[in-house]
Amino acid sequence: MILQHRNRILRRNAAIREMVAETQLRASDFILPLFITEGNDVVEPISSMPNYFRRSVDKTVEEVKELWQMGIRSVLLFVKCDDALKDNTGKESWNPDGLMQQSVKSIKDAVPEMVVMTDVALDPYSEYGHDGIVDVKSGYILNDETVEALTRMSLSHAAAGADFIAPSDMMDGRIGAFRKALEADGFSGVGIMSYSAKYASCFYGPFRDALDSAPGFGDKKTYQMNYANRIEAINETLQDVAEGADIVMVKPAMAYLDIIREIANTVTVPVSAYHVSGEYAMIKAAAERGWLDEEKAVLESLTSIKRAGAALIATYFAKDAVRLLHR
Ligand code: PBG
Repeated sequence: MILQHRNRILRRNAAIREMVAETQLRASDFILPLFITEGNDVVEPISSMPNYFRRSVDKTVEEVKELWQMGIRSVLLFVKCDDALKDNTGKESWNPDGLMQQSVKSIKDAVPEMVVMTDVALDPYSEYGHDGIVDVKSGYILNDETVEALTRMSLSHAAAGADFIAPSDMMDGRIGAFRKALEADGFSGVGIMSYSAKYASCFYGPFRDALDSAPGFGDKKTYQMNYANRIEAINETLQDVAEGADIVMVKPAMAYLDIIREIANTVTVPVSAYHVSGEYAMIKAAAERGWLDEEKAVLESLTSIKRAGAALIATYFAKDAVRLLHR
C-alpha cells in the first residue's frame, strides 16, 4: 500500500503534538466569576456547585490576590443581595455603598491591575428574580424602564472603579444607552462586555441557587434567546457591536460552539464565551461518581470553547485550569 499522506506523523509523540497544536489555553484567557455575600470572614459552599464558594468582601479580596499571582487577569463579580433590599425597582443595585460597589472598590484598592468586570442585570435585586422591572399586571418585563435602571446601575459600577460593565439582561438598546451615559458622566475609559447572544437555558440552574435569584414566576424566554436560533444571535451581536460593545459574549458555551464560531467569523471585536454553572455542575457530578476524569474533562471542554473561536472564557474552572496548564 502506498500512501500519499502519513497524517499520523504529526501525532507520533507528545513533543510533535505539542508543536502542531492549533489551540493553546493560557491563564489570561480566563475570566473568573466570583459570588459575593454580606458579612465578614464568610466562605459558604454552594450545594449545586461543589468546591465553589460565596465569599464576603474580605475573603474575596484574598482570593483575588491569589488569582492575580496565578496569572488570572480578570474577575466577573456577582452579588447575593439581602432579601430585605429586593424590590421591583432594583434601586439597591445603584446604591453607591451597596455590596457590589464596595466589592469593586476593595478589589481595585488591593489589586489595582486586576481587570474587574461587573454583572449588570436586576435579578439579584428583584423581588421577582427577573433581570428587569416587572409589569405586575401582565408579568411582562418592561424594556425601556429596565434600561433606565440598568444605566444607573452601570454608572454606579463605573464610579466604584469597574473596568468593564457586563450586561447580562438582554434588554433591547441597552449597550447604546450605557455607552452614551458612560461618556456623559466622564467614564470614557470604562468598557462594555455585552452578553450579546444569551440563550434562555436550563444550564443556569446552579447559578440561581448561588445567588438565590431564580425567577419567582415564569421564565426568561421573553428576553433571553430561543436556543433553536442561530441567525438571531448574529443579529443581536452585530447590533451590540454597532451600539459600542467592546467585547461580545455567547452564553452558555458547550451547547453553543456553533454560535461561538459563527460570531467569531462575523465580528472584529473579541468574542467571549460563558461556560456556565450547569456546565460546571455536570462535569463535577460525573467526576464525583467516577464516570469522568475531571481534569481531562476540564481541559478538553475549555480547549473546545477556545477552538470554536472564544478569545476569552468565563469559567468556574479557571483556577483549576491554570493549575493544570502549569503541570
Ligand atoms: C443573570 C445571570 C445569569 C447568569 C449570569 N448572569 C442567570 C440567568 O440569566 O438567569 C448565569 C451564569 C451561570 O449559570 O453560570 N442576569
